[in-house]
Amino acid sequence: MCGIIGYIGEKNASPILIQGLRKLEYRGYDSAGVAIQDGDTIARVRSVGKIENLAARAATEKLPGTVGIAHTRWATHGGVTEENAHPHTDQSESLVLVHNGIVENYREIKEQLGSEHIYNSETDSEILAHLIGEHIKESDGKLTEESFRLAVECALKEVRGTYGLVVMHKDVPDYLIVARMGSPLVIGVGTDGYYIASDATPMLAYTKKVIFLEDGEIACVSKTDMQTFNLKDECVVKCVEEIEWNQEQAEKQGYEDFMLKEIHDQPTVFEDAIRGRFNVEEGTAHLGGLNMTEEEMHSVKRIVLIACGTASYASMVGKYAFERLAGIPTEVDVASEFRYRDPIIDKHTLVFGVSQSGETADTLAALREAKRKGAFVRGIVNVVGSTIARETDGGTYIHAGPELAVASTKAYTNMVAILLLYALQFGRLKRVALATGERMLHALLEIPQKMNEILDTAEQIKTIAKVYANYDHMFFIGRGINYPVALEGSIKLKEISYIHSEAYPGGELKHGPMALLSEDFPVFGIMTKDQLYDKMRSNIEEVRARKAPVILIASQGDDTAKELGEHVMYTPKTMELLQPLLNTVILQLFSYYVAKELGRDVDRPRNLAKSVTVE
Ligand code: M6R
Repeated sequence: MCGIIGYIGEKNASPILIQGLRKLEYRGYDSAGVAIQDGDTIARVRSVGKIENLAARAATEKLPGTVGIAHTRWATHGGVTEENAHPHTDQSESLVLVHNGIVENYREIKEQLGSEHIYNSETDSEILAHLIGEHIKESDGKLTEESFRLAVECALKEVRGTYGLVVMHKDVPDYLIVARMGSPLVIGVGTDGYYIASDATPMLAYTKKVIFLEDGEIACVSKTDMQTFNLKDECVVKCVEEIEWNQEQAEKQGYEDFMLKEIHDQPTVFEDAIRGRFNVEEGTAHLGGLNMTEEEMHSVKRIVLIACGTASYASMVGKYAFERLAGIPTEVDVASEFRYRDPIIDKHTLVFGVSQSGETADTLAALREAKRKGAFVRGIVNVVGSTIARETDGGTYIHAGPELAVASTKAYTNMVAILLLYALQFGRLKRVALATGERMLHALLEIPQKMNEILDTAEQIKTIAKVYANYDHMFFIGRGINYPVALEGSIKLKEISYIHSEAYPGGELKHGPMALLSEDFPVFGIMTKDQLYDKMRSNIEEVRARKAPVILIASQGDDTAKELGEHVMYTPKTMELLQPLLNTVILQLFSYYVAKELGRDVDRPRNLAKSVTVE
């Protein structure tokens, strides 16, 4: 995700900012930029690609000055271009800002600003710069520190969405305004000045004394002082904290591994995935990237979801959703099989390629094949500007942010989120009632809170995981919507713990696999209250009769589950189609703690690569 670094103080800003950007590289980015203030001029340099490109250009331009802001961009609105890279300016080019987050109502703001505003980028951030600039124009007389701050406050009151923001203005030298809503910002208190960044990593070389800004706070920072306000313009007293983290711990934001951090990222990035993509009053989703007219949507007779590994298990949840909500026959094809099978595809087929990296060779080849056969081909991808994103004729970014651990966690949940929104969009066009659409959207909005409830039980899950770390084999079983959840639980466990595991639909065990069950072969059942609950209970009884230890995920309030499982982990209830979004988080934590108990390198399991770019 995007990164911010700012500096105001006694030292030359440019090397601090460029070095800071390097420290933020781990967050992922596709372009970067820097702006340095020197008296009443601001010089700006931006560049696509590696920080080294920017560093070379900054070195050529010299960039004197002791105040500046810089940014690494991970594209959301608009492609990867120099124009879209931050910092952005307002209409007068006197104000310069860097922004993390998403301005949801950027279209309305743009309309309100009128046609005299000329934009150089496709970003929501540039519109925000223009909005602040417009408020500055409205303030009478010479721009002062106070009128600058009030203009920023007024603008932010009009913004719907999230921001981590640092702004500077030619007419107010040596003064930075920093604001936060939903996108973290830390202010480092150094002996030579202040450091501002989206996390503590770029300032650790200079200071360990930090102030964490809270949502709705605005800090005004000069070379020697800072003051904090809330959006009601009241002064807020902030505490300086001492952080103990080293560089690596800071990248992981205090978590032991990237995988654990990414599991905990899920409530936040889930919100990023769905934000601005639905309309509760109409009970539907609006995924503009689909690039299809209503007529074309009606012409779709079949949907094919192409993916590998975890992305294919997310796609299986999508299959249930498309069939149930839209009544469109949907299949999930493992990409490596699809490409060699001469699949039956025509112009009435809609193919989605689902991929975190957007570079998986088999998925890419399968999509090219589907395109050749005349299907509508769209991408559901995390990495912006990746090959699949570029080669498909539209689609949707899942906005999970960089996923660095090999085991996919937050990308899975965000893939499911987007597939559910697509299914609703098609469903509303066909047979889903308004009330059902509204209900589903309300349920989606409750998911982050429910994910947090699960994350709060991590210690209990850890205790249970320790009990199962020393078995050699494990089955995961589920039925209906919980069958793909079982598959996902199984791949997670095997890839990071190296324990052999398989997943089956609950009803399938007695057709062969049951022969393996014994006291040494635990079975993990996903048994939440849904249409197939009673059937699943019977399958668990069959397992118990073979003396296999049983671990269960059950719905909160299902006290009878304790009669069936040696260990039960409870999950909050939601709509049946959304239940995988919660149950999977438990399975991720379970696998993580089993692997940790065994001393595995969870972020880099043996024999696996994050992005499989070979066949
Ligand atoms: O980048 P992709 O989503 O296309 O990758 C697909 C699989 O390689 C990936 O999901 C893999 O199964 C993960 N390691 C599972 O955690």
